[in-house]
Amino acid sequence: MYSRVIGTGGYLPEKILTNHDLEHIVDTSDEWITERTGIKKRHIAEDDQTTCDLAEQAALRAIEASGKTADQIDLIVVATTTADKIFPSVACLLQQRLNIHGCAAFDVQAVCTGFIYAVGVADNFIKAGSAKCALVVGAETMSKIIDWSDRNTCVLFGDGAGAVIMEASEEPGVLSTHLHADGQFEKLLHVPAGVSHERHKLLDGEAHLQMRGAEVFKMAVTTLGRIVDETLEANNMKKTDIDWLVPHQANIRIIQATARKLHMNMDHVVVTVAEQGNTSAASVPLALDTAVREGKIQKGQTVLMEAFGGGFTWGSVLMKY
Ligand code: COA
Repeated sequence: MYSRVIGTGGYLPEKILTNHDLEHIVDTSDEWITERTGIKKRHIAEDDQTTCDLAEQAALRAIEASGKTADQIDLIVVATTTADKIFPSVACLLQQRLNIHGCAAFDVQAVCTGFIYAVGVADNFIKAGSAKCALVVGAETMSKIIDWSDRNTCVLFGDGAGAVIMEASEEPGVLSTHLHADGQFEKLLHVPAGVSHERHKLLDGEAHLQMRGAEVFKMAVTTLGRIVDETLEANNMKKTDIDWLVPHQANIRIIQATARKLHMNMDHVVVTVAEQGNTSAASVPLALDTAVREGKIQKGQTVLMEAFGGGFTWGSVLMKY
């Protein structure tokens, strides 16, 4: 038994923030941001627009594309770092919006690797026979945890949501998932405040993302190179067996480094970072949805999805689409 992606959906908030707009907010330039990151613009949620609002739109599109109805969903997993509330989970809020009752619904928190983790969880539920039709979402409003006076970080992130429907299938499907973490790197990329630590910052609106960019960059490149090798080896595949790379969209230079590792032409790498920035857990499902809707990824092709993020966490999903 396999799990198989049978529908994808994505949603980006309407408001767009360009590099030129950012020039009026912090000491930066379109040239610097473009050259160092490949990002030209990002979408930003309205003040009253929540992560669940974005997740709902992406989920509805994925359900429609799958040909399923919401009442057939028997598992909801949402990957997010920017939940609407401390509790209930975004997955439960989303379940309510979709008017589904009773099935398991929970959030997964692995920052930018969240969607890869969530697919790994759903794949295992389906393979174990505990679910038949899973809604898996990556949704974020990163703009709400960004320090808009910190040029080191505010130029990098954006908001959005992506979703997939995964169904039990005798036909492959997800071939393997590889999930990893190493908590010793906590302080290189984190929001150093929360409910039980420096809570006053959370209450005062000072819980912001902090990052040591150059160190994160180096770790991301070497770690993603390793996960490519691990995934190919586990499946007894060669680099040339991969039709499409759907990478986490943090920085075009990190994406190019992984593509080089795979000896892959950039024509076979899905790149959305220029228009969307880093949408954390939403970036991989948004990129997947873009490539599917553009008719690039075709049924039966082999797709490698990978991500790296805070924790550190990292992982990959290899699948036949
Ligand atoms: N505009 C203009 N200058 C900026 C800037 C900005 N938005 N942000 C930083 N700078 C400056 C720095 O202050 C530094 O100036 P200095 O040399 O006078 O101190 C200079 O640019 C170079 O900074 P550096 O950190 O060496 O740049 P970099 O080449 O490493 O690029 C990142 C910075 C953040 C783009 C890059 O490190 C990166 O992408 N890191 C990974 C980030 C990431 O992907 N995080 C999420 C992982 S999921």
